[in-house]
Amino acid sequence: MTSTMSASPSSAPASTAPVNQPPRVLSGIQPTADSFQVGNYLGAIRRWVDLQETHDAFYCVVDQHAITVDYDPQVLRHRTLLSFAQLMAAGLDPQRATIFVQSHVPEHSQLSWVLQCMTGFGEAGRMTQFKDKSAREGADRSTVGLFTYPVLQAADILIYQADGVPVGEDQRQHLELTRDLAQRFNSRFGETFVVPTALIVADTAKILDLADPTSKMSKSSPSGCLFLLDDERVLTKKIKTAVTDSGREIALDRESKPGVSNLLSLIGAFTDRTPEQVATDLQGGGYGDLKTAAIDAVLSFTGPFAAAVAELMADPGELTRLMNLGAHRAREAAAPTLAAVYDRVGFVQLPD
Ligand code: TRP
Repeated sequence: MTSTMSASPSSAPASTAPVNQPPRVLSGIQPTADSFQVGNYLGAIRRWVDLQETHDAFYCVVDQHAITVDYDPQVLRHRTLLSFAQLMAAGLDPQRATIFVQSHVPEHSQLSWVLQCMTGFGEAGRMTQFKDKSAREGADRSTVGLFTYPVLQAADILIYQADGVPVGEDQRQHLELTRDLAQRFNSRFGETFVVPTALIVADTAKILDLADPTSKMSKSSPSGCLFLLDDERVLTKKIKTAVTDSGREIALDRESKPGVSNLLSLIGAFTDRTPEQVATDLQGGGYGDLKTAAIDAVLSFTGPFAAAVAELMADPGELTRLMNLGAHRAREAAAPTLAAVYDRVGFVQLPD
């Protein structure tokens, strides 16, 4: 056997970050809408922007996850580009962070297959998001891809040896599965994966539905949901018609004034103040003043945001260049992990 062909089961390095490297984070967002909504931005993307300053950050548009439920190919393509452009417009910096499209990095699916072969059928069946979504789709229309969705998500994370994963509370169970799979692989085949930590965003800044401030703002209820790329007139109208509460006083009281309190949170989130501060600043004003302040706060962000998205969408060459840059960096980071995994699970290696 020549040295290049010799398998080196124990010497293949798990790509743990060198000392002095900032910790690595990874997160993903599905391209399943024409626009991010205020909740995505305030709850997730804004945090991603902060994390790129202190972490080695990887963010991806998970187009492969988006085909696990019914979809249209042309719409998916457009939404993937729009999502990528929105990440840039929101302040992610391709010089600081690695921003890419999942399907451009085949290592995710390659690792996913190996992980699927280590995931119990019952284990995958216990994922509550799968149970909810498959109930919604109906048993006959639910795909195997929907079933293995969390395993692909685990691969998204583990392929980069991410230390932390900023996600919402709804992803906690998927992160637990990811950690279990990492530990299972490590104990069976030797230390290979970093076992990642879920960085769950606290729910405090949660923005509620403007038309029904007892439920979370969600794209499934469009009239109460602010989309970042909504036309200015549409945003203005949605805020003007937001449900307020009885009385006329601006005060923060989530129990008896959920509508007013929600607008205070919204203003605070876009103007870097606590809802308490906003309430104090608007003291003495009426609901009309509150709504005017909310419209100003939201439009001062969405105006420049929409302009930046439009500029990038009008420049396909630049969009392609940025996606290429991200894919290239991501593949470089992913390749050593996949090589180590393939070696450890017993796949025959070919010489370079
Ligand atoms: N499942 C996540 C969601 O719906 C999206 C996602 C896919 C993700 N892969 C990921 C999030 C990896 C964090 C890390 O929000």
